[in-house]
Amino acid sequence: MTFQEEILAGIPAQLPEAQPYDKEINHAPKRKDILKPEEKVLALRNALRYFPKELHQALAPEFAAELKTYGRIYMYRYRPSYKMYARPVDEYPAKSRQAAAIMAMIQNNLDPRVAQHPHELIIYGGNGAIFQNWAQYRLVMQYLATMTDEQTLVMYSGHPLGLFPSHKDAPRVIVTNGMVIPNYSKPDDWERFNALGVSQYGQMTAGSYMYIGPQGIVHGTTITVMNAARKQGGSPAGKLFVTAGLGGMSGAQPKAGNIAGVVSVTAEINPKAAQKRYEQGWVDELHTNLDEIIPRIQKAVAAKEVVSLAYVGNVVDLWERLAADHIHVDLGSDQTSLHNPWAGGYYPVGYTLEQSKEMMSDDPDAFRGAVQASLCRQVAAINKLAAEGMYFFDYGNAFLLESSRAGADVLKADGSFRYPSYVQDIMGPMYFDYGFGPFRWVCMSEKPSDLQKTDELAVKVLSEIAANSPEEIAGQMRDNIHWIQEAGRNNLVVGSQARILYADCEGRTKIALAFNEAIRKGELEGPVVLGRDHHDVSGTDSPFRETSNIYDGSRFTADMAVQNVIGDGFRGATWVSIHNGGGVGWGEVINGGFGMVIDGSEDSARHIREMLFWDVNNGIARRSWARNEAARFAIEREMARTPELKVTLPNEADEVLIRKSLN
Ligand SMILES: NC(=O)c1ccc[n+]([C@@H]2O[C@H](COP(=O)([O-])OP(=O)(O)OC[C@H]3O[C@@H](n4cnc5c(N)ncnc54)[C@H](O)[C@@H]3O)[C@@H](O)[C@H]2O)c1
Repeated sequence: MTFQEEILAGIPAQLPEAQPYDKEINHAPKRKDILKPEEKVLALRNALRYFPKELHQALAPEFAAELKTYGRIYMYRYRPSYKMYARPVDEYPAKSRQAAAIMAMIQNNLDPRVAQHPHELIIYGGNGAIFQNWAQYRLVMQYLATMTDEQTLVMYSGHPLGLFPSHKDAPRVIVTNGMVIPNYSKPDDWERFNALGVSQYGQMTAGSYMYIGPQGIVHGTTITVMNAARKQGGSPAGKLFVTAGLGGMSGAQPKAGNIAGVVSVTAEINPKAAQKRYEQGWVDELHTNLDEIIPRIQKAVAAKEVVSLAYVGNVVDLWERLAADHIHVDLGSDQTSLHNPWAGGYYPVGYTLEQSKEMMSDDPDAFRGAVQASLCRQVAAINKLAAEGMYFFDYGNAFLLESSRAGADVLKADGSFRYPSYVQDIMGPMYFDYGFGPFRWVCMSEKPSDLQKTDELAVKVLSEIAANSPEEIAGQMRDNIHWIQEAGRNNLVVGSQARILYADCEGRTKIALAFNEAIRKGELEGPVVLGRDHHDVSGTDSPFRETSNIYDGSRFTADMAVQNVIGDGFRGATWVSIHNGGGVGWGEVINGGFGMVIDGSEDSARHIREMLFWDVNNGIARRSWARNEAARFAIEREMARTPELKVTLPNEADEVLIRKSLN
């Protein structure tokens, strides 16, 4: 069968060949055996409903064995036989070009160069799923290949509910991931619902088909490291940045360290993950021995080298050694997957990777204890180095939250965290409040020459805007122009021809309109998908991350993220998604995003103008209402430009008067 025929066949009528378990691939850890016997019956019945009855005899024992061995039913047999990667959009069998672009985005997410555990359909973060099983993948591809621009595909946590009649301006796909009743949103609820095959953790860009590999995060990490270094004063040269994680997103840290011009040391316990990033050129050197890496660090710092070192081992061992040797660390952070602490996101010190994996499924309580003890040791070492002058920040992985829950010494007397989150100190006040966020695009021709042209257009547009930018955002504009000028040279593409930069509403809109015009004139050889990380000004309500710099008490509400997706949905998004979980964990955040296919048409231009305006200004308006000064500045500036925009502004009250009135 050709690639096209296999897509059109959906779930084939005949049983496909069983596929051997590929040991070369990085596989998801065995999930906790959480279902009661009767629930296992339900899980199997749920899995079998994708297949005609005559196949059940063969499939039932196979799926039962998967559930027993892996804790989930992935339906490995149904992995497609073709190679998984994003093809140029015109190669997909399709009646809708928009749907074809979505197929390419899905295949890019699942590309083994891009995905963390591609055979378990996990894209990043240990549990960030695009689908729950291969039957869902096959059905979705078939629906997308056969749908028209008068239909909308409805996705419930990886499961395609079906195609429903709609209209050409409606989204082609609407995705929800992990949306559960709030009282059933504890980590074990996720384990149970996922094992039953009724819900999934979509992370942010995994379950929304918008993941573009580590580039997606390298830029955000670069500006964070750069600004964290600036906060320490002086040049970044010779400053030492220590962190952990060379996984899906965390793998961007060494590259960002190099671009920011520091010496970075990243610990990674999984040799496969470390090797993958090394081979991709994302980290310069691998070291497995602490006695060897310590002098190497000292040499690099003394010589002000721009270099990224990886310690292949447990980060706790690294922190403790740095503290014991009193090595001066300038910047410290952590990007292990602590949003998922009990199921493979964090490996406790004192155990090998294999021992941890075994304990996780065979003795979850002991594993939990080991993780908590490990976090306490990690924090103790970090505290020592912080006392000697290190600036430590939480990098949005729930490190401080889980450490505090583990009883680590990470709280101040008033119950707040000892260390700031990167959003409180850097990203919130300098970026999100002004509407700057992780705007991205993917060239659907899959031609590097198209990506290069879009880079050039973005530089041109941003330079024009920067010429008249107010002082408040001049630095952000400068950093982004520099980034995009260097992006091609830095070889950031893994998978499809994608790019990211941070821009505000004006920047995003003008760049998108310039692309649309270039497509119309034939200067670009294919359509472009616009999107963004959910980690943005309006996309995410996450009290310990994106909205951690909201101080009016509303950071535990999720109106902004929900409103955002609804508003994007009727203003021209090609697909929208809303997720429970993402970044800091199931039950801890609501986040949403969009994808928009632009094809050079007037419709595309209208969608760009209407949707991007809402997608950025919703969050600025909310941040302004929360009394964030930069957001107040940004929304007043926008109201002056756009007479139809009328936003409720807060009045300041006198602190003394308030306190006096309460006494
Ligand atoms: N702030 C942001 O913008 C941002 C961006 C991306 C990711 N994140 C968060 O960062 C975390 C990491 O994301 P990811 O996609 O890289 O996840 P990932 O699971 O792909 O990578 C995490 C890596 O940490 C390693 N690790 C775990 N415990 C370790 C230990 N004790 N010592 C050394 N290495 C250890 C794992 O082996 C894994 O490779 C997630 O929680 C994610 O939500 C935040």
